[in-house]
Amino acid sequence: MRITILGAGYVGLVSAACFAEFGIDVALVDNDPARIEALRAGRMPIYEPGLDRLVADNVRDGRLTFHTELAPAMVGAEAVFLAVGTPSRRGDGHADLSFVFAAAEQVARAATGPLTLVTKSTVPVGTGQRIIELVRAIRDDVVVASNPEFLREGAAIGDFMRPDRVVIGIEAGARGEAALATLKRLYRPLYLIETPIVATSLETAETIKYAANSFLAMKITFINEVADLCEKTGADVHDVARGIGLDGRIGRKFLHPGPGYGGSCFPKDTLAFARTAQDAGAPLRLVEATIAVNDARKEDMARRVIAALGDARGKRIAVLGLTFKPETDDMRDAPSLVVLPALAAAGATVTAYDPEGMAQARPMLPAATHYAASAMECVANADATVLLTEWNEFRALPPARLKSAMAGDVFCDFRNVYDPVAMRAAGFRYISIGRP
Ligand SMILES: NC(=O)c1ccc[n+]([C@@H]2O[C@H](COP(=O)([O-])OP(=O)(O)OC[C@H]3O[C@@H](n4cnc5c(N)ncnc54)[C@H](O)[C@@H]3O)[C@@H](O)[C@H]2O)c1
Repeated sequence: MRITILGAGYVGLVSAACFAEFGIDVALVDNDPARIEALRAGRMPIYEPGLDRLVADNVRDGRLTFHTELAPAMVGAEAVFLAVGTPSRRGDGHADLSFVFAAAEQVARAATGPLTLVTKSTVPVGTGQRIIELVRAIRDDVVVASNPEFLREGAAIGDFMRPDRVVIGIEAGARGEAALATLKRLYRPLYLIETPIVATSLETAETIKYAANSFLAMKITFINEVADLCEKTGADVHDVARGIGLDGRIGRKFLHPGPGYGGSCFPKDTLAFARTAQDAGAPLRLVEATIAVNDARKEDMARRVIAALGDARGKRIAVLGLTFKPETDDMRDAPSLVVLPALAAAGATVTAYDPEGMAQARPMLPAATHYAASAMECVANADATVLLTEWNEFRALPPARLKSAMAGDVFCDFRNVYDPVAMRAAGFRYISIGRP
């Protein structure tokens, strides 16, 4: 089988490499020539563990090719996937669908025979129908399907190869059945490992993706608020999370308190879901509250650091971790983008270190931010250290070494990586989330 994927970002590139690994011929297209040039030269445009090897193996075996021109890349393709971005539309929080519609139109114009056009990008309910209208105005033999992606950055290859489920939304009637058959053939290796396939309508598939992300964001936000309560009452949020998470109806995942969710998906998807629901006259008040609580939380993290210092003016603050989570270089909507500017605005001098995210972070952070080459260089002479992202290399830093490198004694561990007893024994005023 042969497929084409538009968009060589986190989703498109990982999907392309994984489909190629399944034995499918994949032509990956991006309209950013620099990105394609890098891929052709064997350089990864993003950081994702294991991706460089998977890409190199499949390029070597001739199953994965990179293109800037769409028409030649579509020759012989049975299915064309859209994995282009759907960022927040400036100002109102709706998903910006301009990349999706432009790409769908390009595909319809470049097509020379029947094909299935599959939307992998996260798009609001109703988008599939709008794509049908758009492409059918150009040609009649393009069938539209929805196949939302659930991979997590940092664990993307494993998630793609062993997903909890595959969701396929199809048009009604024979066209839809044909699209479903094509997609089932593409996902045959997953069928063999008994991955559940949820075959449904376009509208339902689109809604599943937003409902899933919003539910997970809500779960994180719930435990963050419970953590705040624990701080006031002397309870331990980790034991609360375990105690409730062991209940099979609740589940243990996504109950880790922190500085608020960020990343390329949850913030924009919760917002878009809430906007779609408002427009439909069926507001999602829990999702709206989740967004408001999470936004306020990021600001509150900066306030906690400033309060611990008494006055941040002239103080040196070290920030360990900038990306929204470990094992990615993705800085989109990372809590650091709120916390660092707030610390700088309070008069502090901020030095940051992140193992993978510093190149992406630089243009997004205050110009006065300093960058260190290692965690220990970052904390040297700091009055306070703030741990924002739980990279593994930050877990093993001995408290006594940290303390003697720093000038001050404030350590704000917003990922609860360290043992409070050990940190206090090392002489820190240790501030973590939801623990006595
Ligand atoms: N990043 C994630 O973890 C994740 C997970 C699940 C779903 N999603 C969804 O997948 C979609 C893609 O996300 P991403 O993070 O991979 O985005 P991204 O910004 O990393 O990549 C998008 C790519 O598409 C390219 N592009 C835009 N228009 C194009 C066109 N007409 N032709 C060819 N290339 C084009 C851009 O140059 C860019 O390289 C979004 O809708 C997102 O919500 C993302």
